Amino acid sequence: MQTFHIKTWGCQMNYADTEKIRYILCSGGYREVSFRENPDLVILNTCSVRQRAEDKVLGLSHAMRSLKNNNPRARVVLTGCMAQRLVRNGCNEHEDAKYTRSLARRLPWVDLVIPIGDRTGWEVMINESIVPESAGDAQVLYDNCPQERSDRIRANVPISKGCNNFCTYCIVPFTRGREVSRSYTAIFNEVTDLVLRQYRLITLLGQNVNSWRGGKDGCSLSFPDLLRAVDQIDGLYWLSFLTSHPKDFSPELVDVLADGRHISPYVNLPVQSGSDTVLARMNRKYTTRDYRKLAENLRKRVPGVRLCTDIIVGFPGETEMEFNETVSFIKKMQFGMIYLAKYSPRPGTAAFSLPDSIPEEEIERRRRIVEDVQSSIMKKRNSARVGSAVQVLMTGHGRGLTFDLTEITIEGGEDEGKGGHSGEVGSFINVVVTEGSAGGLRGMVAV
Ligand code: SAH
Ligand code: SF4
Ligand code: F3S
Repeated sequence: MQTFHIKTWGCQMNYADTEKIRYILCSGGYREVSFRENPDLVILNTCSVRQRAEDKVLGLSHAMRSLKNNNPRARVVLTGCMAQRLVRNGCNEHEDAKYTRSLARRLPWVDLVIPIGDRTGWEVMINESIVPESAGDAQVLYDNCPQERSDRIRANVPISKGCNNFCTYCIVPFTRGREVSRSYTAIFNEVTDLVLRQYRLITLLGQNVNSWRGGKDGCSLSFPDLLRAVDQIDGLYWLSFLTSHPKDFSPELVDVLADGRHISPYVNLPVQSGSDTVLARMNRKYTTRDYRKLAENLRKRVPGVRLCTDIIVGFPGETEMEFNETVSFIKKMQFGMIYLAKYSPRPGTAAFSLPDSIPEEEIERRRRIVEDVQSSIMKKRNSARVGSAVQVLMTGHGRGLTFDLTEITIEGGEDEGKGGHSGEVGSFINVVVTEGSAGGLRGMVAV
């Protein structure tokens, strides 16, 4: 039996792709092993969002060469967003072409590049003599490919892929292509099946879930319609979605969240910057005022909403004043969490050739300032929850998530059987919060 090992970087979408690749390989008779076992096939499911993500793959040279020494049959397959850069030269710009050539030169140990979504490519690789089951549209075949999930209680369900927004810093529209929605029926059936199989946290995934479009019985549907329909499925589960673009977060979606039965009040709404001039240069198509109004509406209408965001510091030309606007915006908004990134120039994107890049030490200084400000906000927010009663979904030994998807450690939960039962993975338990810090919550099982 041939063996494989798969390494994944990047966003949830890439992890969902990994589960599909795992399904295809396992159905083709491959067995998954650790890298130390010198597998016959190593799959690198890569990310291009920042240079660091690509550098991690480029840095595997030594490991891949020694794998090939230990197992002469071993082949290395590259897929994911770096693969798209290599096969499609997505951005069609001079800089991108140059970069693509340099990438290819630095990956001589890669034997095969398989683009994202190419189910036939995987099937042919497994068995070169097969006629791929290509009855029907290849994309639909891939979109509905089952996922071999490694988590028993949390499931990500892709509902759309690609992006049409072209934020000037972002490589995603070039690697993932234009936005395509998956069909209503496929999504609805998949979630129904997951609920039946006792998955407890189901996340609808897309680069921009708010622009999902579909149809049912001749009616056209939007994302709020889809979310409302899925939320009607009976069962014991929480429902979440990732990621939202502020410009497309409609009042109907706020209504659906306000009326939800299973919908978690966790909302990831990336703002990227708290400065209107930077937002314009990023091509985000909203202002801080639009964002603030949306946030206020969410906080008014959705009880316990936990608003989280993404911030990029050091975008080209970001002045001290623009950066300070971001810091005051963060203080004003009191986010539940910030996914903070230092700007990384991506060859082929519009921002790549912008003048006035910020020196690395300055970007790092700004990153640290945001980190410190946010850390004290989170400490304050989390400690304000001490004494409150919360429902917790157990995700591991003595670990769980509250309904707004904050991580919580259950005291004594590690010592099962010594009076410290905290419930099995997948169970919902009642907990009293005993401690809140910047890193999360601690709690005790309520009696
Ligand atoms: N579709 C989502 C996020 C996609 S990428 C959205 O629109 O928000 C995930 C995050 O990576 C982005 O929110 C952004 O904060 C960050 N990111 C994207 N490109 C980047 C770059 N060139 N440098 C630094 N951070 C970047
Ligand atoms: Fe990138 Fe912007 Fe699309 Fe998000 S919305 S994936 S940041 S281009
Ligand atoms: Fe990375 Fe591609 Fe996701 S660039 S963040 S893996 S869409």
